[in-house]
Amino acid sequence: MDQRLFAAAVAAMERAYAPYSKFQVGAAILAANGKIYSGCNIENAAYPVGHCAEAGAIAAMVLDGIQEIREIAVIGRGDLLTTPCGGCRQRIREFAGPETKIHVCGTEGLRRTFTRDELLPASFGPENLA
Ligand code: THU
Repeated sequence: MDQRLFAAAVAAMERAYAPYSKFQVGAAILAANGKIYSGCNIENAAYPVGHCAEAGAIAAMVLDGIQEIREIAVIGRGDLLTTPCGGCRQRIREFAGPETKIHVCGTEGLRRTFTRDELLPASFGPENLA
């Protein structure tokens, strides 16, 4: 995994606003244009309104005019893998190919890399609506 991607994910995690769950998450996308876009989770006193880190990173990428994820890193603290939630797997799916790498990280570095298809097999996507 690109170390710039890891560093961006860590920096994003450190800015997360997660006073309710106390679980900060960072995400960083290496996009098709070679740039890195990051996001953090932002919680809300009205709990369901909170946003995941991946959603923020995708929003930054799309706002910059890019619609293709080359790789994405997600990071959280704790012993378990901070894998993208179900909704974020679908969000990633929209802008990634079946073999696109999803790097799951801890503070020490990369823990495991999955492909998009491993995390969301037999998925529904834009082709279904074509
Ligand atoms: N969270 C993310 O930001 N991304 C994920 O894919 C998993 C969960 C956040 C949402 C919430 O703010 C906190 O982690 C605890 O669920």
